[in-house]
Amino acid sequence: MNTEYNMKQIAAERAAGYVQSGMKVGLGTGSTAYYAILKIGEMVRAGLDIQAVATSRASEELAVQQGIPFTPVRDIDRLDLTIDGADELDGMLRLIKGGGGALLREKMTAYRSDKLIIIADETKEVPVLGAFPLPVEIIPFAYEWTVQSLKELGCSVQIRRDREGAVYETDNGNYIADCSFGRISEPEELAARLTGIPGVVEHGLFLGMADQAIIGCRDGSVRIIG
Ligand code: A5P
Repeated sequence: MNTEYNMKQIAAERAAGYVQSGMKVGLGTGSTAYYAILKIGEMVRAGLDIQAVATSRASEELAVQQGIPFTPVRDIDRLDLTIDGADELDGMLRLIKGGGGALLREKMTAYRSDKLIIIADETKEVPVLGAFPLPVEIIPFAYEWTVQSLKELGCSVQIRRDREGAVYETDNGNYIADCSFGRISEPEELAARLTGIPGVVEHGLFLGMADQAIIGCRDGSVRIIG
């Protein structure tokens, strides 16, 4: 018999097992975080008592549908745990995030979390970051200048568009520049250069932020890094 496992769901459900009553929890964004939110919703309906914040409007809507209680961000100083997906991760738990356009809220949430668990299927693991175009959130004002500054770092740049072809706007009213480097051999150096460009709000390199990665594998097993 040929069994196909849902690698994202396996990883997400394992991560949900780290959520305990009394915790303040950050909910990630994307198709893997989706399964974590569903599982946490099920746990809440069975009596789990948590406070949550979400990293995007989409995740907040899903969580509300699931009955997960929300607290205004201003009323939460720090989070105990955030569970979120990634577009790429390497063996040092360095990540590319932002494929779903939520990188700014994701990074702010991760920064205020005591623990960040990344959930992913095994296709996201790479020896070197960069095959996935790096999402960079930029200010709409004079975005052409910012795009030019990004290109000067040695990448090609696409301004993200939605399905209808209109320029995609993030939950924060900004644009996403998808930067194809092919290979990012020095992520720390690139991160510093990106941060130095006026017009860049935030970039999708998450370095030194993830504490653990839970990887769902094709054979139905789970591998934990960190
Ligand atoms: C959202 O902006 C992203 O950072 C996601 O966490 C990332 O794109 C992973 O998404 P999937 O789980 O859908 O692959």
